[in-house]
Amino acid sequence: MNIVLIGFMGTGKTTIGRKLAARLGYRFVDTDHYIEYEQNCRISDLFENQGEACFRKLETSLLKRLSAVENTVIATGGGILVTPGNMDLIQKIGRSIHLMACVDDIYERIMRNKKRPLVQTDNPLQTIMQLYHKRIDLYADADVTIDTRSMKMWAIVSKIIAELGE
Ligand code: S3P
Repeated sequence: MNIVLIGFMGTGKTTIGRKLAARLGYRFVDTDHYIEYEQNCRISDLFENQGEACFRKLETSLLKRLSAVENTVIATGGGILVTPGNMDLIQKIGRSIHLMACVDDIYERIMRNKKRPLVQTDNPLQTIMQLYHKRIDLYADADVTIDTRSMKMWAIVSKIIAELGE
């Protein structure tokens, strides 16, 4: 079985995914990191030099290839569902888990670094809120949604495992 973590930027997909994979003895793939590795380029440079549309195509191409993996936890980028058809690809890969967090927590986590090109604006909080409301419905088709507010990392991992009956 594969587990695909989806959710807005800064909801902990990478950190939780890595811990979940370790607990289950699964492999771990982070789509952002994999794209950076394959393109030999940071996401922020990809956005700047080739544009968001190019990045979105790379995400879809990677998802298609990931349909062949087994016993893998996959953490996806927060905008992966913006591309029509990607949720269908995710559903073919495995069970989807939506990690949900509140805007305040997301803002606090995202502001720790400058890795995310879409929020390098004059008013990042406003940008996050706008994107959040635009995208929140996209995550609704996940098999399981976990409200991560005020939950510790280990508790989130345990909850995912319990929800999946693993
Ligand atoms: C993006 C989220 C990022 C990364 C890229 C675009 C988005 O991933 O894929 O900066 O559009 O929401 P995280 O969700 O890991 O921050």
